Amino acid sequence: MQEPMLSLQKVNKMIGRNHIIRDLSFDVNPGEIFGFLGPNGAGKTTTIRMVVGLTGISSGDIRINDFSITKDYKNAIQYVGTIVENPELYPYLTAEKNLLHYARMSKNVTKEDIKQRLELVRLSHVRDQKVSRFSLGMKQRLGIAQAMLHNPKVLILDEPTNGLDPAGVREMRDYLRKVAKEENIAILVSSHLLSEMELMCDRFAIIQNGKLVKVEEVSSEGQMDVASFYRIEVDEPNKAKKLLLDKYVDEVGLDDEIIRVNVTKEKIGKIITFLTNNDMTIYEVIREKQTLEDRFLEATEGEVS
Ligand SMILES: Nc1ncnc2c1ncn2[C@@H]1O[C@H](COP(=O)(O)OP(=O)(O)OP(=O)(O)O)[C@@H](O)[C@H]1O
Ligand SMILES: [Mg+2]
Repeated sequence: MQEPMLSLQKVNKMIGRNHIIRDLSFDVNPGEIFGFLGPNGAGKTTTIRMVVGLTGISSGDIRINDFSITKDYKNAIQYVGTIVENPELYPYLTAEKNLLHYARMSKNVTKEDIKQRLELVRLSHVRDQKVSRFSLGMKQRLGIAQAMLHNPKVLILDEPTNGLDPAGVREMRDYLRKVAKEENIAILVSSHLLSEMELMCDRFAIIQNGKLVKVEEVSSEGQMDVASFYRIEVDEPNKAKKLLLDKYVDEVGLDDEIIRVNVTKEKIGKIITFLTNNDMTIYEVIREKQTLEDRFLEATEGEVS
């Protein structure tokens, strides 16, 4: 087991009398893109502000590369790259000069680092252009290059796809994946663009009212212990329904002669064998694909905004 690069441990945040974040715990591993999902006001930005040290933690701890952000801020924060709100760029400087300017504020950034970062976010060809001429997507990319100048091990982005058009969103997704993989960086991204998160992330957490609802792998529906809906076409659906209710499940749908059950992958295997052993012919078994959006709505019971 690899050590997590970012670890939230029973984090709580009170603002005045309001309990904004409650016992929030999750880990982000190197090389992984971790999505942080939740409806408006769930506490995503508040959490991110705690992770990057912009606001205090009421109780619990956040560890970055095993340094505590509360007890060892200086060591912890050196591993963090982030864009807070909008990237801080100077419109009248070129892309390269913006990075040079920023590099002067941190230690050990070489010209080669700047060149390499511009390549990574595919802005080398416009390095001599003024940022005022950049599109929003280009500015976002330059912001990421800037956030990565000091070789962080964790990249934290609050709604990085906000305001981008579909092509921009896709581009952002591609290079965040590239950054995670090539640089083995742990990336935490918040969003409520569910379909987008599904394509971008390896795992995601859903929070609601400051509490963790669940942490899941994006592709978890193929796992043995995760339930999905299955449709079974069988020659004797009524008999099958009765037998399944007796033996395997509490609820069986029967629509248009098609059986529908919500079971784990492990159980569907047993059900297929069981029906066959009871002299029924199975014509087809289909797993209904559940999108991340379905799972989000299920987890938050429809309270999406
Ligand atoms: N400075 C503050 N003082 C009091 N309450 C605050 C403060 N900042 C945030 N909150 C409250 O904390 C809760 C979480 O807000 P937060 O901005 O973290 O949500 P979010 O998940 O980022 O939402 P969005 O999707 O709209 O960006 C909200 O109920 C908000 O009103
Ligand atoms: Mg927010």
